[in-house]
Amino acid sequence: MILFRNIGELAGIAPEGLLRRQGAEMADAGILHDAWLAVEDGRIVDYGTGQAPEADEVIDARGGMILPTFCDSHTHLVYAGCRDGEFLDKINGLSYEQIAARGGGILNSSDLLNATSEDELLAQSIERVREVLAMGTGALEIKSGYGLNPEGEMKMLRVIRRIRESVPASVRATFLGAHAVGRGYTQGEYVQAVIDMMPQAAELADYVDVFCDEGFFTPAETERILKAGARHGLRGKIHANELAVSGGVQAGVRHNALSVDHLERTTDAEIEALRGRETMPVMLPGTSFFLGIPYGRAKDYIKAGIGLALASDYNPGSSPSGDMRFVMALACIHMRLTPAEALNAVTMNGAYAMGVSDITGSITRGKRADFILTQPGWTLTKLPYLHHTPYIRSVYLEGKAI
Ligand code: NIG
Ligand code: FE
Repeated sequence: MILFRNIGELAGIAPEGLLRRQGAEMADAGILHDAWLAVEDGRIVDYGTGQAPEADEVIDARGGMILPTFCDSHTHLVYAGCRDGEFLDKINGLSYEQIAARGGGILNSSDLLNATSEDELLAQSIERVREVLAMGTGALEIKSGYGLNPEGEMKMLRVIRRIRESVPASVRATFLGAHAVGRGYTQGEYVQAVIDMMPQAAELADYVDVFCDEGFFTPAETERILKAGARHGLRGKIHANELAVSGGVQAGVRHNALSVDHLERTTDAEIEALRGRETMPVMLPGTSFFLGIPYGRAKDYIKAGIGLALASDYNPGSSPSGDMRFVMALACIHMRLTPAEALNAVTMNGAYAMGVSDITGSITRGKRADFILTQPGWTLTKLPYLHHTPYIRSVYLEGKAI
């Protein structure tokens, strides 16, 4: 057994069996002061204050903080090359939609990806995985969606599978064939092609996603794709309401999607649709920051009693960062989440939104020992406040320092 003692703040504690925190529960960051934490065989076995149990190995936290590793439930970090040229276009005044309409954007990444071998794609992507693990991410969802043809999409899903097999983090794969209409297809042909890819995709992916938004896919197309996914055991995770109020939230809820993501544009109808449901809204403040679009109405969701997750959306076009501490900071500064609400949103609720909250995402007896040990003097409030000061002493996944 390994004992971590002298922990100034042990945060993210949750009782066994709790899979998400909703509404007012999100104010509870599960904190113990002057605590200890015991780990055995890669699992959390116990925690507490006062007298600690005997252990084979003792690690002195020196008054630092321990918190669960981040669960980033929405990324596109498998991609080839980058889109720095479009960054210049953006600085010079073009919007995300204008860049996409010129054949740039997702189609630009698709061209790059289809010209890149599977091994090279893995090599480029694994660098980003290592980058986010070092920043404290312990669970990671990754989407396809830059292949936009059967070959390219399956290549991406195989790369995600190889990442999953080679890193100690919990990795989940989402088939996002319907990210944009692939080159050479009409809209209708491509929707059918995505449906035809489903049996093969289901062998490699855990979830299915659709970019249900203005200029991409309609709610009716989304529902067809969700039904095809369900026939092959894939639950939905929808991109909705990034560019316009799209109807994607309601489409996702009707099909009991695991999550509906983005929601930068929301009316009260979306909040009503999500109340009391199993579907988790996921907001992506890094995208609002980078594109200069509104931040989601996070507080209104919480006030309505709904649980909320935050993710990075790490991708080359709308959020070129997988830094979840920065996501927390943006949520506190621009969405007025408290640090406790933000912590729940990037850990336990993120885990829920990618279907891993039974194994990780909180300090819970029996869960994987996935946590960040900070330098001395850090507290939950300081994480988003001193938002770029280095704070990590070690990241532990399944009880081992990575
Ligand atoms: O989540 N909105 C759609 N997809 C990504 C952007 C992908 C890209 O531009 O490469 C997003 O923002
Ligand atoms: Fe996305």
